[in-house]
Amino acid sequence: MKTQVLETRIDILVPQDLQAEEALLLEKARQACATAYAPYSHFQVGAAVLLADGTIVTGSNQENAAFPSGMCAERTALFSAVANYPDVPVRAIAIAAFTDGNFTEKPVSPCGACRQVMLGIEERSGDAVRVLLYGTEGIYRVGSVRTLLPLQFGEESLGSRS
Ligand code: THU
Repeated sequence: MKTQVLETRIDILVPQDLQAEEALLLEKARQACATAYAPYSHFQVGAAVLLADGTIVTGSNQENAAFPSGMCAERTALFSAVANYPDVPVRAIAIAAFTDGNFTEKPVSPCGACRQVMLGIEERSGDAVRVLLYGTEGIYRVGSVRTLLPLQFGEESLGSRS
């Protein structure tokens, strides 16, 4: 038997550690929580996507009485960004969540489906997408979506079909 150790490097930041661009993106993500439609979970998520030309596109979770028909904040923001600016690479995404009257203490963690979409968008441009996860106790930062998705299924997995 062999064992492979996969390492994940996450920076844990306090607000003073953030670059101005990162602080603004996180602020946009926090603000986007207010646009969530979450009458079922009462868990409001906001995402803000930074494009290479400086444009910021935001999104929030949009729930539906038929639960699986709803959509997460990250995919709402990312699909909106690439649909409206198909030729501008995505540089970063910030995510925040608000519930029970407060932003979450622990950094919000994107679901598996959103990580997969984030990976696809990173692969599309070939440039790493920085991810910022907001929590009142600290902010997680990773330099690439690949860090959040070990053993990923990406375009390479499709081999000659991609
Ligand atoms: N949600 C997101 O928007 N993003 C995530 O990464 C995790 C979960 C939403 C989906 C649903 O509307 C609510 O949060 C509770 O799961």
